[in-house]
Parts: sequence; structure tokens; C-alpha cells
Amino acid sequence: MSKSQPNHRIETQAVHLGNHVDPTTGAVVPPIVMSTTFERQPDNTIPSGYIYGRSQNPNRKALEETLAALEGGAVAYAFSSGQAATNAAYQMLKSGDHVIVPAESYFGTRGLMREFYEHFGLIASYVDMSNLAAVQAAFTPQTKLVWVETPSNPTMTITDIRAVAELAHAHGALLAVDNTFASPMMQRPLSLGADIVMHSTTKFISGHTDVTGGTLIFARIDDVSARAQVVQTLSGAVPSPFDCWLILRGIRTLAIRVRQQAANALALAQFLADHPAVETVYYPGLASHRGHSIAAAQMTGGFGAMLSVLVRGGAAEALTVLANVQLFTRATSLGGIESLIEHRFSIEGPTSTTPPNLLRISVGIEHVDDLIHDLRQALHMIGQ
Ligand SMILES: Cc1ncc(COP(=O)(O)O)c(C=O)c1O
Repeated sequence: MSKSQPNHRIETQAVHLGNHVDPTTGAVVPPIVMSTTFERQPDNTIPSGYIYGRSQNPNRKALEETLAALEGGAVAYAFSSGQAATNAAYQMLKSGDHVIVPAESYFGTRGLMREFYEHFGLIASYVDMSNLAAVQAAFTPQTKLVWVETPSNPTMTITDIRAVAELAHAHGALLAVDNTFASPMMQRPLSLGADIVMHSTTKFISGHTDVTGGTLIFARIDDVSARAQVVQTLSGAVPSPFDCWLILRGIRTLAIRVRQQAANALALAQFLADHPAVETVYYPGLASHRGHSIAAAQMTGGFGAMLSVLVRGGAAEALTVLANVQLFTRATSLGGIESLIEHRFSIEGPTSTTPPNLLRISVGIEHVDDLIHDLRQALHMIGQ
């Protein structure tokens, strides 16, 4: 029996959900079940409920139940990456369906649509989701899914989840929110009216930069969630038992990690906003950010740990800062306990719409004074 109760707060649930003391060994941490198949009884029944590793596994089940509870959802399905989760959401649709996709979002979310699904008959509109009039104008009678990412990569654009949920439902469409940047500690889209939450669990959820994963979490168990389960089982992009174990292990410290990361991010954003070598800081926790008031209303306990800056000058100045950081690691990805910095334009390639002087920062749990010191000395190198 898990020690977690439905009335426990999210911090307690993150520690205890999906866990029980192993009855045979007394192990406090769950074992990793690597078996790909499960024995049936002489009468051909399967009392454990497990049949085959692709359809379900004890470590995956524990992870999925925990993810669903953290987002206040009814059911979750785990995938082998965030992209596999987004792919599954698109696979749930059929040829001729129309999808509203954020013009600013993780580039893979748009890339998957453009490279594959538009060729398979899905129709996509790429819309500024912070502009509700533009969202409203994008609906067609065929619109089945609206995708939101908030805060979004790379300029932390904020979308009003509740307002877009109302628009989607008025047009008979579902709303899916990529909640990767905020994590369930800072934003719970299902409570704001979304139908589906997507995460790259590679990021804050697992938090240690050592496992790739994704999930779709559903507000209700119905035909839509049932379809996701069919996609998960038939397409087969499932995470390994060890991956599930690692992601769940990361979740145990989600609450304290993300809070510390967000507190560090706010202090860094304030430092950068006052720095003469910085043209603009994109962080929703700053009153100067254009989505600040909506973020303040829909995010809880902080504004996340992702921020971007435009370095005064151009790509050369941004690359000078990048070359001179000593504590920050120059690497893509986000959400881990160590602070990362990247030149987003170089990562996204020639079709990128990201400004060439933009640096994206994922803030970790190091002491914030050390992080500030490192960026101060790196910014000082411009023009040296
Ligand atoms: C916001 C967001 N969504 C989705 C993804 C895709 O996740 P993954 O890399 O786990 O496939 C990423 C990856 O960087 C991301 O930042």
C-alpha cells in the first residue's frame, strides 16, 4: 500500500505516490521489473494484470499513476520521449482534422507536424497563442485540437490557458498544454480547463539530465484517453522499466528542486535586467514581461526556471558570453539541477526564427550568487 492519500498535498504525493514497501523483501524503494512477459495461471487468468512489457509494466504503471496525480488528471500514459508523447497526440487525430499549433513553441512540436502529419492529411494553423483574437480566428469546423505551450520556448510567451480552453470547447475541440517549462509544481493546466497535459519528462519532472521520457495526462477517462492508450500500445514508443524508475526517482524531489530553481531564476532575471550588456530579459516573473499578469494569475508558487536574454549587439556578442561561462554548462535541454546555457539559433538551425543574439538559460539549484558571478564575468568579456 502506498502511504500517499488523495488528500495529501502535492509535495507529499511526489514523495510517496507509486511506491509501497516490497512485501517480500521489505525494500523501501521499488525494484525494477525487467521481465517483458508475465505468467498466466493454469486457468489462463492473469491476476497481476500484467501481460507483456509493451502493454504495461509495474514501473511504468507506478510512474503513470504518479504523473496523473501530480497534474490532477484521471490517467497518464508514459512515452519514450517528449516527442513520442507529442507524436502520440497527433496520431490520435485523423486525416482532414485541423490543429491549432503555437507559432512560438519547442521547434520539434512544429517540426513533427510539418515534416510528417501535414503530409498525412492533418491541417495545421500556426498561431500566436498570446493573441486571443488570432486564436479565435483560426478555428475551422474541422478543428479538433488546440496545442498550447506556456511559458513557451524561447521567449517565454504566456498563453491564457483558461481563455483558450473556453475557445477550444466552444468550437468542439480539445486543448492540450505542453507544461514542460512550468512543471506541475508551478502550473496545473487541467485545473484551468485543459483536457490534456503533455510533458517532456526529460526535463524538470526527472530533473537530473539522465533520462529521456514523455507523457500525456488526461483530465478524464473517456474515448480520447482510450485512444491514447491504443496509440501507446500499438505504436510502441514506451519507456523502459529503468527509465520509468529513474523518472519516478526524480519526481521524489520535484517540489524542492523546482522551487529553488525558480527562486534562482527570478534573482538571475533581476540581475540581468539591470545589466548594461543585456538588451532584453524574457522571464515571466518580471513585471516588464508582456505576459506577467496572466502568468501571475495562472502559475502558482513561482514562474519557472527558464529565461532568455537578448545580448546587446548581435550573434558575435552572444557567442562571446557563451564562450566565457565557467559554471554554466554550454548544452541544450533544460530542467536539470545544473544550470545550462545555449545559443538557441545554432540549435534550431537555418529555419530558426529565434533572434541570433538570444541566449536561453535553464537555471539549476547551485547557489545563486555563484550563478550571478559567472554571468557577470562572462558578460564583462564582450568588447574585451
Ligand atoms: C517544451 C518542450 N516540449 C517538448 C520537448 C521534446 O521533448 P524530448 O526532447 O524529451 O523529446 C522539449 C525538448 O526540449 C521541450 O523543451
